[in-house]
Amino acid sequence: MIDGRVVVERCDVLAACTEEPGRITRPFASDAMRRAHQYVREWMRQAGMTVTRDNIGNLRGRYEGTGDATLLLGSHLDSVRDAGKYDGPLGVMVALAAVQRLHDDARQLPFAIEVLAFADEEGLRYGSTYLGSRAVAGTFDASDLERTDSAGVTMAEAIRAFGGDPTRISDDRWGGDLLGYCEVHIEQGPVLEARALPVGVVSAIAGQSRMLIELTGQAGHAGTVPMDRRRDALAAAAELVLAVEAAATTQPGLVATVGMLDVEPGVANVIPGRATLSLDVRHPDDRVRIEACETLLARTRELAKRRKLAVEIRALSENAAVRCEPRLVSLLTQAVKNSKQQPLELTSGAGHDAVAMSALTGACMLFVRCKGGVSHNPAESVTAADVSVAIDVLGRFLDLLARP
Ligand code: GLV
Ligand code: MN
Ligand code: MN
Repeated sequence: MIDGRVVVERCDVLAACTEEPGRITRPFASDAMRRAHQYVREWMRQAGMTVTRDNIGNLRGRYEGTGDATLLLGSHLDSVRDAGKYDGPLGVMVALAAVQRLHDDARQLPFAIEVLAFADEEGLRYGSTYLGSRAVAGTFDASDLERTDSAGVTMAEAIRAFGGDPTRISDDRWGGDLLGYCEVHIEQGPVLEARALPVGVVSAIAGQSRMLIELTGQAGHAGTVPMDRRRDALAAAAELVLAVEAAATTQPGLVATVGMLDVEPGVANVIPGRATLSLDVRHPDDRVRIEACETLLARTRELAKRRKLAVEIRALSENAAVRCEPRLVSLLTQAVKNSKQQPLELTSGAGHDAVAMSALTGACMLFVRCKGGVSHNPAESVTAADVSVAIDVLGRFLDLLARP
């Protein structure tokens, strides 16, 4: 019977599908993603599913039931740069394992199951999050198609090269009766480990804002321009990075991160003329997040004025906090109990496809304990035993949903 060990082995196989030898980097619509699809497509077929790929590049496996309604399961196959093996792929592999068990037992449920392996959740290539799930939810923003990657390739071109039609993303929107969406994911935090629990049920997902801030001063000679005549964009960015850290530490639950900093011209003997940095702000309460963003942007403008720099701010994405669907949360909690595990509800600081999917249907999530709470890092680690629990819980969740 398919178990956690097989799922972990499959995540190892997918980890080898990467754009950067020696580390896991699997961007949207890349050759690495194409190779990952070849494996996932085959595993879907083995589980008795019919497989299609939509325009945005999601792989969809459908397992028919005896009734018309469909339950959606899934997570994403793309990764951050130098990622771990489990953020995203684990959820797809656990969903496939649950369907494989039904297929092995020659069982059909009163509803169909569709496993969605989303094309892009992290936003690594185009900066915009949830491309795959937004296409399914019908909230994809067509203006995103004009975004360019670091090589100048537009998203529309990338979709076409991957085999999709960028003019028909609206066809990817789900049509038909839905029972909901359930996503299994590694916790990416320390709570389950601290409580010695293999799995937990997510009650809500924090909202997040992401933006790019470009500070433009004047490049100049590092040896000749006196200190009081400089308009150093990197010095301003450094001040901003520390202001972001300080602002977040004063508010419980608030997290704010500058994860990307690009300096131009980036030469030892030239004063930096331009610095571009990302800002990511999250909080479970949308009001707190929005106020924090406003304060930080006012601070940015103030320091840019003081340092005689131009400032340009570009919003990348904004997602409100999401509450998981109470009925699905309660069924998932019951499934955890039926699996002889102690139930625990927790909130997610990380974003998930469940956020975008909640615009389409009720969403719920099951978290799996990960070592040290480490994620977005090659050291991401889960145990096969915990993954087996997740497969069992998901199977029991399906059984509960199937009850008349
Ligand atoms: C997705 O991993 C996120 O940034 O929360
Ligand atoms: Mn992630
Ligand atoms: Mn993820």
